[in-house]
Formats: sequence, structure tokens, C-alpha cells
Amino acid sequence: MFHWLEKNPFFFAVGVFVVIAYAGLIEILPNFAEAARPVKGLKPYSVLELAGKEVYKKDNCIACHSQLIRPFKSETDRYGQYSLSGEYAYDRPFLWGSKRTGPDLHRVGNYRTSDWHANHMWDPTSVVPESIMPAYKHQFTNIADIETAYAEAVTVKKVFNTPYGDDIKPGKEAYEKHFKEVVLPEALKIAKEMKFDKVDVVKMVEEGKIPEIVALIAYLNRLK
Ligand code: HEC
Repeated sequence: MFHWLEKNPFFFAVGVFVVIAYAGLIEILPNFAEAARPVKGLKPYSVLELAGKEVYKKDNCIACHSQLIRPFKSETDRYGQYSLSGEYAYDRPFLWGSKRTGPDLHRVGNYRTSDWHANHMWDPTSVVPESIMPAYKHQFTNIADIETAYAEAVTVKKVFNTPYGDDIKPGKEAYEKHFKEVVLPEALKIAKEMKFDKVDVVKMVEEGKIPEIVALIAYLNRLK
């Protein structure tokens, strides 16, 4: 029936193109419709979490850690549910990474706690004796840049319609209100959970200075 097609290179090429284009569309179209949307229940990052994400980028955790669990049994056994594209809807940029010197961190909030992170970041060998991860003591004294994180939230709300509440809006006054009413209580909760005695992080937060480690832990706890 299709002998004539096999003998005619031009129409054969057109036929191949049509078939592949059709198959391609069937693969690609559902992504536009469904999978690229935020998964149900996904909330945008809080301002404190955004500040922690900055610390994660600045201190280059991505050099050793991925945030992408592949759909292989070995990975889902270890880390849990494999990652879905809709989970990264508010990640700008995404931090998938391509190197795993350490474990994947996409669900680390499910099995590590604030006090574990505090001890681990201060001195990894204190909780994992054979660890080769560097210590990040400076995060306990460096102050997190909350104002820039707030500006980022304001920007993505405006540019990408990220669903933040009405309290995220431009202006110094709005920032100071949000800092006092939302960011500080969130930071204080984590500082207390850290139960850390080498640096008085609770006092720092109470004085309005949020150390980087508190923001970073807020971000790590959110990864689940
Ligand atoms: C030089 C490579 C390297 C860098 C850079 C690095 N890590 Fe690690 N990380 C490791 C290794 C190796 C382990 C496994 C041993 C351990 O738990 O300490 C690990 C473990 C972890 C764990 C425990 C995960 C689990 O499932 O037990 C967390 C959380 C973590 N790292 C966070 C970070 C953060 C946050 C940063 C950036 C501030 C960072 N790491 C930077 C190598 C690294």
C-alpha cells in the first residue's frame, strides 16, 4: 500500500517529519498543561527561607549536593518520593546540581532536625564522625540579608505572579512590618529548636540580627 511512499524520498521525508512531530507534541503538550504547574499545596518560600536559599547558593552547597531524586528504586528507598517538576515551581534558579559528593537534599527536611543541622554545620564530624563535609562556623556569626530576600519576594510576586499575601509589597515600612511580624518569630522558633550553646543564636535573633545559619536551617527544613 505504501510502496509509492518508499520510492519517493521527498514524501517519505515529509511523512517521517509528521510522525515524529506528532509524537513529540504528545510528549510535550501535557507538560504545558499540567506538570509544570506547582504541585498541589506548594507554598512559595517565606522571606526567611529565601534568605537561607541565598546562603545555600553563596556557600556553594550545590558543589557537593543535588536536589533531584531520580525515579530509581535505590534513590526512592533512600530519600523517599522521587522529585516532580511541579515541586520546583518557585525555584529561581532551581538548584538541582550535578554532583553528589554528599547525599541528595531534596527531602532532607523529612529526616533531619534544626538541632541536628546546627551541630552538623558547626562541625560535621561531631554528628557524622567520618564526614568529609567542611564546617561552616561563619554562618553562626554572619548576619543573613533579609532585606534582599524581601526584595526578591516582592519582585517575583510582581513579575511571575508568585502567590504571596498582601503583606509582601514594596516600601521600607512594609518591609519593617513584615520583618517584625513574620520573619523574626519564624527565626526565633528555629533558633530555639537549634538548642545550640556555643553561640547564643537566640539572643542574636531577639536583638533583631538573624544569623545565616538560622535562615539556612529554615530553608533546609522546608525541603521535603
Ligand atoms: C565538599 C563537599 C561538600 C560541601 C561543599 C557541602 N557538603 Fe554537605 N555533605 C557532604 C558530605 C560528604 C556529606 C555526608 C557526610 C555528612 O553527613 O556529613 C554531607 C552531608 C550533608 C547533610 C546531611 C544529609 C543527610 O541526609 O544526612 C546536610 C544537611 C548537608 N550536607 C548540608 C550542606 C549544606 C547546607 C552545605 C552548604 C552550606 C553543604 N552541605 C556543603 C559534602 C559537602
